[in-house]
Amino acid sequence: MNKKQLYEVAEQLMTPGKGILAADESIETATKRLKAFDIESNEDSRRAYRDLFLSTEGIENYLNGVILFDETIKQDNSAGIPFAQLLTQKGILPGIKVDGGKEIDPNSPKETLTVGLVGLAERLSEYKHMGAKFTKWRAVIKIEGDTLPSKSNIRMEAKRLAQFALVSQQIGLVPIVEPEVLHDGNHTLERAAEVEQLTLQAVFEELESVGVDLKALILKPSMVLPGKDAVSSTPEEVAKSTAEVLLATVPKKLAGVVFLSGGQEPEEATKNLGAIVKAEKFPWPISFSFARALQTPALTVWRGKEENIEKARDVFTQRLKQNQLAIQLD
Ligand code: 13P
Repeated sequence: MNKKQLYEVAEQLMTPGKGILAADESIETATKRLKAFDIESNEDSRRAYRDLFLSTEGIENYLNGVILFDETIKQDNSAGIPFAQLLTQKGILPGIKVDGGKEIDPNSPKETLTVGLVGLAERLSEYKHMGAKFTKWRAVIKIEGDTLPSKSNIRMEAKRLAQFALVSQQIGLVPIVEPEVLHDGNHTLERAAEVEQLTLQAVFEELESVGVDLKALILKPSMVLPGKDAVSSTPEEVAKSTAEVLLATVPKKLAGVVFLSGGQEPEEATKNLGAIVKAEKFPWPISFSFARALQTPALTVWRGKEENIEKARDVFTQRLKQNQLAIQLD
């Protein structure tokens, strides 16, 4: 493994003033996103959906990287250029989601575990040949009362995230570990903070125990938020809780932190991001790696229609700009 190259990629992904777009929805999730706007989901409509965002002019002014899905990294844009190559030409690093979705946790059937470790090294080598520079693995942690998440579920997810990160670095790809604490439910901000803290503690324990190099690793956490069915908190409250948990759990040498949006309204995600960035002096760069909060407003305008592409791309660019403003420190 060439450590120097890994550090360079990690640094490039965290270049100040820009973020990462998650355009890595699985076929199932992409279908759900398209169906919400009455767009039929097939290989070609999903290609058009990716093209809407990835062929938008000037995205390199806002993005250091884009996370792709298996189907997408093998597809071309409408001008016949492979998406990974298109991004590289723009100076944006192409990345790839490599987990294989979820299975029921046999020890706790109301919870899930992320799958995809079997054959991972071989798959990563193939993606590397296709131009990928970094990878992502998502684990899902669900809050339900005082009983979920179970300790064993958090531990197993942390172990799998660590194994993924280790294999990724061995192949020469910078891993993004995404332990997503879900926003679903009616839990309080305090309960979310408690679960986020337990989760991140376990994740860093496991990462360190298998020898993952944290200087070549990016964390993609949830913001600490009360459940979406509970009374919402102000951006200042969200920022304070999020900063406290991160500072208590995330080692200083980490390459960076990029937040997921987690189903928040796009404007809300941007406001919370801005408040978090300004809440404290953090030892690592912080940015965004949103999927829904960047894409949904543009999808609402596009609706799968050629004549709406330009307007939808303007809306997408506006969301990128707003998030770029949010991460600026002065
Ligand atoms: P959201 O920003 O929509 O939460 O998605 C981020 C992501 O990468 C989910 O895996």
